[in-house]
Formats: sequence, C-alpha cells, structure tokens
Amino acid sequence: MATTQTPPARPDLADITTRQQRVWSSGNFAMVASRIVLTSELLADAADLRAGWHVLDVACGTGNAAIAAAWSGTRVVGIDYVPELLADARTRAGAEGLDVEFRVGDAQDLPVDDDSFDAVLSAFGAMFAPDHERTAHEIVRAARPGGTVALASWRPDGFIGDMFRVITARVPGPPGVPSPLLWGTEPHLADLFGGAIADARSTERICTFRFSAAEEFVEFFRRWYGPTHVAFESLGPAERRNLAADLTDLARRWDRYRGDQDAVALPATYLETVITLR
Ligand SMILES: C[S@@+](CC[C@H](N)C(=O)[O-])C[C@H]1O[C@@H](n2cnc3c(N)ncnc32)[C@H](O)[C@@H]1O
Repeated sequence: MATTQTPPARPDLADITTRQQRVWSSGNFAMVASRIVLTSELLADAADLRAGWHVLDVACGTGNAAIAAAWSGTRVVGIDYVPELLADARTRAGAEGLDVEFRVGDAQDLPVDDDSFDAVLSAFGAMFAPDHERTAHEIVRAARPGGTVALASWRPDGFIGDMFRVITARVPGPPGVPSPLLWGTEPHLADLFGGAIADARSTERICTFRFSAAEEFVEFFRRWYGPTHVAFESLGPAERRNLAADLTDLARRWDRYRGDQDAVALPATYLETVITLR
C-alpha cells in the first residue's frame, strides 16, 4: 500500500518577517554599521551614480549607502523596517547637511511607485528578507527601465558566512527559509533577476573587521549585532559559553595575523554586483 507523506509546511513568511524585524531592532546595529561604511562608499561608486539621479537604498539601516549616494549629488530615499535605525540615519544625514528622506517599510513590499528610481542600492540589506523572489521583484519594480541595481551581499564561503553557520549550528533558523547568503552568489542573483538583466558585473571584495582580540569580536557582536544578540539571549548559561567559545575559535581561524599580533583582522568577503536593467 502506498504511504502518503505530508508535504513540509510552507514557512509563514509574514510571521518570519515580523520576528526578523525584532531581531534587527535588538542590540544596536548602528555600532556595526559604523564599521562597514567603506562597503557602501564602494557600492555607490561602483553604481556610477549620476548627480541628479533619484536613488533608493533598500534596508538602509543607519543610512550608509543612502548617505554615500547623497554625496554624489543624487536625491535619495532610504527604506528600512526598524524606525530606531532610521532615526539615527536622519541624525547622520542632518549632521552632514544632506537632505535624505527615510521611510519605514518592508523590502518585500516597498512603499514606492513603479519605475520611480534611476538606481536602487542595497548593502547587506535585501539579502535578509525571507522572500527572495518578492524582494528582487520589488527592487526591479522600483527602478526605471534601463536603471541600475547595485547590491553588496556576504559570501557563503567567507567569514560572515562561517559566522552564520556557527550560530545556526547552536540556534537553528526557521525551517524552509532560504539562506540570505545565497545573495552572495552569482547563480542565485541570475535566478532572481534573470529576465530583467541587460548586463551584470560582480566583484568579490573584502571588508576587514578589526578588534584587539578574538574575545572582543565575540563581545562586540554579542552586544550590538541583532542576529548574534538574539542567538545568545535564546540560550541558557552553558550553551551561551559554548557559542562564545565557537565564535572565539572562528575568529582565531580567520585572523589574518594568525595570532602574531595583539590584534585580530577578520577578512569578510562579499559580492558587489552592479546590474543594468533592460
Ligand atoms: C546588515 S544591516 C545593513 C544596513 C545597511 N544597509 C548598512 O549597510 O549599514 C541589515 C538591515 O536590513 C534591514 N532589513 C532586514 N530585512 C528587512 C526587510 N524585510 N525590510 C526592510 N528592512 C530590512 C535591517 O533592519 C537592517 O537595518
């Protein structure tokens, strides 16, 4: 007799998005954002933004890419679903005398008109929305035909990819949700943006995180970086010590100085992709 198997339950993406929003609201991502400013400067430059363009920064956090774009003389809107990060973004832009608009919104349902931007940027942002297809669709919808899409996404085989694996080995993510690290691979981007692409160029880059010791890296990410902060909070005392030990080992393995210095340098590879739309 044939057995009937129950198909795996489809993940509830709306519920996952709500939970992820709480994760990114925890800790204080502003502290991490300050360490990756250069990646957004490079992304804005790679996108070859023209002064006068209308530019969207998706999942902008405290506005790294939005502010870099605004310094190219563009009119910028930044969108993120964490209001506290947007408040910081407004303060930063204001301190630099820049007129950038920041809106609360979900990358999977962008509060923008169709075809309304010359360029859409996302630095380590769009990659985290659970519905990859929907997010890519929204990015393309927001951009005008012939517009530019520029993305920075952590590579699965790099330091941050390894860090996510170390964390999920102790605190598994929601079942059935594709890994955000897929955005750091060219085949996945080709699948997501395929029909909309006239031209696409990807470059592997390195963002180096610097700390006085592996332990300082762990404490920094545990305190300020939402995903790590929430992972630690979800564990009991013994498991917290195990996760801290795993992350300390990870940092020692990746340390470019190989323990030779009173400091660690952690090279995190990411994919920088610039797409010209049809
Ligand atoms: C790693 S941070 C990057 C922030 C900023 N782009 C930067 O480079 O500093 C990820 C950001 O994506 C935002 N984010 C994640 N999923 C999102 C979603 N579905 N809609 C809007 N924002 C999202 C988080 O709130 C967070 O600010």
